[in-house]
Amino acid sequence: MTDWNAYLDEARRAFEAAASTAELDEPRVRYLGRRSELKQALRNVRDRETGQTLNALRERLETLVADRETALDQAERARLDETLDVTLPGERPPRGHLHPLTQIIREVEDIFLGLGYEIVDSREVETVWHNFDALNQPLTHPSRSHRDTFYVDDETLLRTHTSTAQIRVMEKRQPPIYIATPGRVYRRDTPSPRSTPNFHQVEALAVDRGITLADLKGTLIHFVRAMFGPDREVRIRTSFFPFTEPSVEFDVSCFLCGGEGCVFCKYSGWFEMGGAGVVDPAVFENVGYDPEEWSGFAWGLGLDRIAAQRLGVPDIRMFWENDLRLLRQFG
Ligand code: PHE
Repeated sequence: MTDWNAYLDEARRAFEAAASTAELDEPRVRYLGRRSELKQALRNVRDRETGQTLNALRERLETLVADRETALDQAERARLDETLDVTLPGERPPRGHLHPLTQIIREVEDIFLGLGYEIVDSREVETVWHNFDALNQPLTHPSRSHRDTFYVDDETLLRTHTSTAQIRVMEKRQPPIYIATPGRVYRRDTPSPRSTPNFHQVEALAVDRGITLADLKGTLIHFVRAMFGPDREVRIRTSFFPFTEPSVEFDVSCFLCGGEGCVFCKYSGWFEMGGAGVVDPAVFENVGYDPEEWSGFAWGLGLDRIAAQRLGVPDIRMFWENDLRLLRQFG
C-alpha cells in the first residue's frame, strides 16, 4: 500500500530539485507519467473515495509541476536577457566615404562660397549654341569637329567645357553675377595618365561694373592659396580663348619645392592650372548685356589633374577605376 502523502512530498522535492525545464522532465514522468505509481493506481481504482483522493493528488502534482516549469522558464529567459547586453558597442558596419574627386569639388565649392559666390550646377548635354556659338567660338575652330567632341546630333553635344554654364546663367539673369560651377566635361581624347575622355572642370564667372584683370588675378591668388597653401604664387601667361579678351593661362608655384624646381614640377617650379580672361564684349552681346555697362572675368580649370597632383596619384585614370585599394587611402 503506497503512502500517498510521502509520494506527494517526494514529488514536490524532486520538482524543486530540477534546475531547468529540461531537468523537470524526469520527475514529471516518474510521478505523473503513464507508468508512474499514481497512474497505475488510478487505473486500478475500484471505489469512489480512493478515486477522488488520487485524482485530487494528480491535480495537485500537475499544478506543482506547472508552477515549477513557469518559474524555471522565467529564470531561463532572464538569463538569456543578461547575456544579450544591449549596451555593448557592437560591430561597426563598414562605412564608405566620398570619392577623392568629390572631396576636391566640395573643397573648391567651399572656397567660392567663402568669397560670396553662388555654386551653380549646369547641364552636361548641351546645345552647340551654348558650347560654341554663344562663346564666340569661330565656325572653323577644331574643337567643333566630330573628331574632338561627342555629338548627340548636329545641334546637341556633350559639353567640352564648363564655360557653357556662363551662357546658361547670363541668359537667365541680370548682373551682378558671381558664380562657380563645377561639373563633368567630355572630349574625345585617348585615355592616358594625364587625360580621360570625361573629366571635371570648375568655372568661375564674375560680372559687375568696373571689373579688371587685377580682380581676376586677386581671385586666382586667393583660390590657389586656399587650395594649395598660403605660400603659393600665381603666374599669368598670355593666351587665347575666343570668349575672353585678353586671355591668359595661369600656373601655381609648385607646392612641393616652392618653385625652385623638382621632379614633381618637372624642374619648372610651376604647375599649369587653367585658362582665364576678361569676358569678351561679343559674349555679353550674345546674352543681351550691354558691354559698355558690364565687365567681367571668367576662368576654368581641370580638377582631375589638380586632384592627382595634390593627392600624389600618378595617373588620373585611377580615379575612374573604382579600385578600393586606391580610394580607401583618401577617406
Ligand atoms: N573653357 C576653357 C577650357 O576649357 C577654360 C577657360 C574658362 C578659359 C574661362 C577662359 C575663361 O580650356
